[in-house]
Amino acid sequence: MIEFLVNDKVCAVSDAGANTTLLEYLREDLRLKGTKEGCASGDCGACTVTLACLSSETQSLEYLSANSCMTLVGSLDAKQVITVEYLEDGSDLHSCQKAMVEHHGSQCGFCTPGFVMSLFTYYKTHDVAAHETLKEALGGNLCRCTGYRPIISAGLHMLSSGNPDKFERNCDETIVSLGMMKQKTEIPVIVENEKQFFCPRTSDQLAQLLLTHPEARVVAGGTDLVLEINQSLRDIKTLISVSSVEEMKTISISDGHLIIGAAATFSQFQSTLIDNFPNLRELIGRFGSLQIRNQCTLGGNIANASPVADMPVFLIAMNTTLTLRRGEDRRTILIEDFFKSYKKTALKDSEFIEDIRIPMLKNRGTLKLYKISKRFEDDISSVCTAINLEIKDNFIQESNIVFGAMAEIPKRARHCEEALNGKSWTEETISEGMQALEQDFSPISDFRGSSEYRLEVSKNLLLRYFLERNSTPESLIRITQYV
Ligand SMILES: Cc1cc2nc3c(=O)[nH]c(=O)nc-3n(C[C@H](O)[C@H](O)[C@H](O)COP(=O)(O)OP(=O)(O)OC[C@H]3O[C@@H](n4cnc5c(N)ncnc54)[C@H](O)[C@@H]3O)c2cc1C
Ligand code: FES
Ligand code: FES
Repeated sequence: MIEFLVNDKVCAVSDAGANTTLLEYLREDLRLKGTKEGCASGDCGACTVTLACLSSETQSLEYLSANSCMTLVGSLDAKQVITVEYLEDGSDLHSCQKAMVEHHGSQCGFCTPGFVMSLFTYYKTHDVAAHETLKEALGGNLCRCTGYRPIISAGLHMLSSGNPDKFERNCDETIVSLGMMKQKTEIPVIVENEKQFFCPRTSDQLAQLLLTHPEARVVAGGTDLVLEINQSLRDIKTLISVSSVEEMKTISISDGHLIIGAAATFSQFQSTLIDNFPNLRELIGRFGSLQIRNQCTLGGNIANASPVADMPVFLIAMNTTLTLRRGEDRRTILIEDFFKSYKKTALKDSEFIEDIRIPMLKNRGTLKLYKISKRFEDDISSVCTAINLEIKDNFIQESNIVFGAMAEIPKRARHCEEALNGKSWTEETISEGMQALEQDFSPISDFRGSSEYRLEVSKNLLLRYFLERNSTPESLIRITQYV
């Protein structure tokens, strides 16, 4: 049985819903129709709800916004789901709802519950409202009629009431309920005819379950996997979630490596990652939306083995290693060797990624990452690259150049690297490297970009790296002419 709260109601699911999303459960089982379905693929935010999770470190509630269309019911173990129906306090609207009314933040209203829930989460997680952070909080919500100015204006004015809301007043009670659910020792499970969903709490339980069910699929944030259920209408027989495995969410620095547990979400690890690799700030900020980053994990971004995944590009350039575990056996593998071919990885049956180890190289300050996509935020890459050249006495000592969305797997540009290594740091050398990219890649054409476009952009990104690193006034002006 999987137990969780929906608003103030305890829900226990045992024999239905192994493949059911939270959105379906809310709308069809609980008849809570305030949460809307727009795209069913994580893009529009109409289905946004707030999740309150009990932190095992601080024993307090952590609030985050999530797309209910991308969340499986089985992964709600010991969490509180807050929906738009539950915000009002007696006959009073919540401050975020009042602000939406007062600032005229709604027209047709379809997107409004999703916006309200994103604003509510912001209300619970910020003491001071600011334009930049609000834009980030609302970046995963689309509105096609009102326009964003009044909604942002509502967000800027909703924090001023100063009175505790009902969630603050009920906080202790909620903590006790979730704490009791967490204390139960049996592994939470849903069994539905032929389908099952397990939610282990330790990596030993996870390893054992995977040995017993070698056919099982691991599910982490579900932001890739649930698309198979929603969009490809696939039934997945056995699912094993890592979302309650706390040991796999730790983030630490040891032996010159930043070690990120495979089940840590982007929102959990991004500040440590950016502190240590400041040049990643833009790429992370453009990775999905806040709702997606609150759910998705680094392990999922790697194991999904998508040619357009962003993080493997950075991780390959840093010579990152992965800890893979099967039962009690662990092995370490260079991430470059993990990707075999389109969507094929080195994972064996019953094996999973336990953690990701990124070397803290001295020259990481010269690493640059570029993401080219049709839309600046919340969009998949047409081309993504990580470039790091070590230059000494005006000679290129070593080059690390990796591209995503250019081949069936994220891949190092070996010919380009060879064309640069040992050569002088000049524009002529860079031109040779640009030419060599033609030997490295024959990209496909699709709706994100033609083959010719991708090749041209990849060459220009290498030139951009050269111009940015030289950073003379003339080179900075030239950058505007490329990409
Ligand atoms: C709206 C939207 C925007 C997106 N934007 C981006 C973007 O900008 N850049 C980008 O790269 N991706 C993007 N994605 C894709 C997706 O969010 C990422 O790939 C994400 O990191 C997947 O992580 P997850 O935890 O949700 O994985 P899941 O969906 O849970 O799993 C993905 C795959 O990995 C396997 N898996 C997960 N964890 C493990 C583990 N520990 N060991 C072994 N196998 C495992 C699963 O079995 C599954 O096959 C986007 C997706 C959506 C829906
Ligand atoms: S319905 Fe569009 S994000 Fe969920
Ligand atoms: S109010 Fe109509 S889509 Fe936003």
